[in-house]
Amino acid sequence: MSTILAIESSCDETAASVCIDGKILSNIIADQKVHQKYGGVVPELASRAHMQNIVPVVDAALAEANTQLKDVNAIAFTKAPGLIGALLVGAQFAKSLSLALNKPLIAVHHMQAHVLANLIDDPKPDFPFLCLTVSGGHTQIVLAKTATNLVILGETLDDAAGEAFDKSAKLLGLPYPGGPLIDEYAKTGNPERFSFAEPQVEGLDFSFSGFKTSVLYFLQKESATSPDFIKRNIFDLCASVQKTIVDILLVKLKRAALQTGITNICIAGGVSANSRLRTLFSEMGKKYNWKTYIPKFEYCTDNAAMIAITAYYKYLAKDFSELSISPSARLEWN
Ligand code: KG4
Ligand code: ZN
Repeated sequence: MSTILAIESSCDETAASVCIDGKILSNIIADQKVHQKYGGVVPELASRAHMQNIVPVVDAALAEANTQLKDVNAIAFTKAPGLIGALLVGAQFAKSLSLALNKPLIAVHHMQAHVLANLIDDPKPDFPFLCLTVSGGHTQIVLAKTATNLVILGETLDDAAGEAFDKSAKLLGLPYPGGPLIDEYAKTGNPERFSFAEPQVEGLDFSFSGFKTSVLYFLQKESATSPDFIKRNIFDLCASVQKTIVDILLVKLKRAALQTGITNICIAGGVSANSRLRTLFSEMGKKYNWKTYIPKFEYCTDNAAMIAITAYYKYLAKDFSELSISPSARLEWN
């Protein structure tokens, strides 16, 4: 019997989850509204909000799972990557609990946890599977050989897919984070109306900087002659931006599937909440005879359930950490 308490604090969500024998019993998230007026996450404000939120969030996760601290067998936390001050709050909290309860500590890589979010609910993908992980800070194609053996096949050379959404949204005058708003506005827009640069990157790596520059130059040029260009065309602009980003992602995912011959394919991360990506991914799966998997919406954006499920497999493998472990803003994969 394993009861794991997991904590996630890598960016601007303070989250805790309880997982018993591989089943998620609670998944509590406190969003930090404090960043909205700054157009992005302010690291120092994030750390402070984590300190305010962490005790009530952990209490709520234990209560919802009908569990007490004395029943917990291991404490898991996000060790990297993320904002260092934010990570430190979760790490110190987890270490203190581990020391006080005399229970093992499990350090989890946030991006590996996004991939393993696909193992939370049934049906789960069989191994090996591929996962396109698309978040605000990262874009990767990962080969999961087992739950504890994940290999990066490709990743972004510059911006992440979520950043491409958020930065385009900013250029369009939309508030942060703009990804979900682009998705919403795109629903009534024409995705073929405008075209933006698509990168020519070899292999399975991604690049979004050329795309971002092409959106910037296009909007500057059009707005110079027609100041209300963005306002008049906001729906078509959102639809076209979204189409380009999703095309860039799916071209590489298809290439990865063809190259490896793997047909269990997942997507994960905050951008996998995008409706066009979800729809086209499922259609692509039908066309190529893939078994496709997308985590439930609440497990796509940042959450502690994904940390808990990853910790569960580490617990089975007895992959524990010393109390001397430090979190890191950018940590190597293994
Ligand atoms: O995984 P996540 O919650 O946090 C990170 O670890 O980065 O991802 C957040 C990213 C943001 O860039 C946000 O704009 C994007 O996911 N996002 C979306 C949608 N929902 C969230 N992007 C496009 N369409 C969406 N529906
Ligand atoms: Zn994330």
